[in-house]
Amino acid sequence: MRIDVLTIFPRMFDAVLGESIIKKAQEKKVVEINIIDLRLFSKDKHRKVDDKPFGGGPGMVMNAEPFFEAVNYIRRKIKDLRLKTRVILLSPKGRKFDQALAVKLSKYEHMVLLCGHYEGIDDRVAEHLVDDEISIGDFVLTGGELPAMAVIDSVARLLPGALGDKDSCKDESFSENLLEYPHYTRPADYSGMKVPNVLLSGDHEQIKEWRKKEAIKATKRKRPDLLK
Ligand SMILES: C[S@@+](CC[C@H](N)C(=O)[O-])C[C@H]1O[C@@H](n2cnc3c(N)ncnc32)[C@H](O)[C@@H]1O
Repeated sequence: MRIDVLTIFPRMFDAVLGESIIKKAQEKKVVEINIIDLRLFSKDKHRKVDDKPFGGGPGMVMNAEPFFEAVNYIRRKIKDLRLKTRVILLSPKGRKFDQALAVKLSKYEHMVLLCGHYEGIDDRVAEHLVDDEISIGDFVLTGGELPAMAVIDSVARLLPGALGDKDSCKDESFSENLLEYPHYTRPADYSGMKVPNVLLSGDHEQIKEWRKKEAIKATKRKRPDLLK
């Protein structure tokens, strides 16, 4: 998968994309991530990308033009590759991101993620440029960079070859509208806190059954809404 991100704060991505599984996924060419400085597409001599809102009100609004220019530039650049592309605006007004949407996005060959700032982006971007608007939850962040990183991380780890063990994302939380069963590792007895005996039994059928029951129990207790 190829992912292009449009942002006015490219350096924010360094730490997250330069560590751990996402770093390895890029090295293994499972995913190619390009962080693009939106200011390169500003026609203003000071590379300004925002302006006062029409109609008045507080704060600044990001101009539509740099986003249109940048997305068109990316489209021209990859035209010959004929990739299945999704252009996504990160926005608190978007549909709520969840695991099912991460799975859907992982089937695309190319994503373009648009990060807003300040009061947000001129609405013509949402109306005419993007395929989807995604929110990572009902709260307001200062910019779309953290939401973009959350989307990249959750989608990239689903791509074939990203995780060391391809079964790691099979029984995970939300995969069957259930939270995942509890995990334990050595020691089996830590200061009197013991690991459930069944996990030490070596009986794989019993372990499977126990895990299913525990997953349902955890979901009922912590996220009953998932069982509805
Ligand atoms: C301060 S917010 C703008 C909020 C906007 N004035 C509103 O009330 O809906 C600036 C940018 O952060 C990003 N953002 C903030 N919260 C977000 C969320 N929950 N999900 C996705 N993006 C978010 C968006 O890109 C947004 O354009």
